[in-house]
Amino acid sequence: MGRLDGQVVHITGAASGIGLACAQRFAAEGATVVGSDIGDLGTTGDPKSEPLTEFPGVELLECDVRDADRQAEVVAKIVADHGRLDAVVTAAGVAAGGPLHMMDIEEWQRGQDINLTGTMLSAKYALGPMMEQKSGSIVTVASVEGLEGCEGGSTYNAAKGGVVLLTKNLANDYGRAGIRANAVCPGFIKTPMFHGVVDAMPWADQIRDQHKLGRFGEPEEIASAALFLASADASFITGIALPVDGGYTAGHSYGLAEMWTN
Ligand SMILES: NC(=O)c1ccc[n+]([C@@H]2O[C@H](COP(=O)([O-])OP(=O)(O)OC[C@H]3O[C@@H](n4cnc5c(N)ncnc54)[C@H](O)[C@@H]3O)[C@@H](O)[C@H]2O)c1
Repeated sequence: MGRLDGQVVHITGAASGIGLACAQRFAAEGATVVGSDIGDLGTTGDPKSEPLTEFPGVELLECDVRDADRQAEVVAKIVADHGRLDAVVTAAGVAAGGPLHMMDIEEWQRGQDINLTGTMLSAKYALGPMMEQKSGSIVTVASVEGLEGCEGGSTYNAAKGGVVLLTKNLANDYGRAGIRANAVCPGFIKTPMFHGVVDAMPWADQIRDQHKLGRFGEPEEIASAALFLASADASFITGIALPVDGGYTAGHSYGLAEMWTN
């Protein structure tokens, strides 16, 4: 018996990385999964980005999360095909930013449009069927960078901080309609986005060492947390921002602990 047997789930950004891992795990747990993505499936460079249709229970639709009409269409199709919508996981997102004095307004806007407005639209259109059902679970994918600042983050951190508070507001506004809303806040996770950003950084080791477990995370470890929040195991949990970060946000690391852990 799967933990999501009989449930219908929409996962955005499902063609790669964390969204793909969620699609695979949720389907393995018995859910009917409809994944959506911007449509450049296969161009992400992710060796795992084989067509989602190869996994039982997973269907992939083309959708840019910035496109409100298309987001509404995707949800309408899910409900028409499957009769309901039990959960949405908003994994679509992009790395964006740079220090403000070097960043143009277009880059700021791109970071906000995809990471924050796109997340808002995915949640907004999921609310329709969920309010009718009087049940549902919204799992947003924020970031440790939505919980605290970091060098060069700017638009990404502002957007992810917005996702955290948007999620808490959803919990406030829709709890009495039986809808839960929670954010997962990943540390640095080995996905195509990560490789695109971190591989080129000379200080990648310092970033890794801020994770107190001494390693970067795997997309499947985020999928496990998203599964927990989406499932009945988290039936009394709403409005939280759960760091899934190997201890990244537990405190500052200066290397002292290596004296007794090496
Ligand atoms: N990898 C990390 O270290 C990390 C850490 C914290 C948070 N996150 C967040 O996790 C989420 C998934 O990231 P990932 O690391 O798996 O990256 P990824 O690049 O592997 O996957 C992101 C997916 O989102 C899709 N996407 C991008 N723009 C889109 C749009 N406008 N509409 C629809 N789909 C779009 C991409 O095509 C891709 O398939 C993102 O929101 C990201 O910000 C990632």
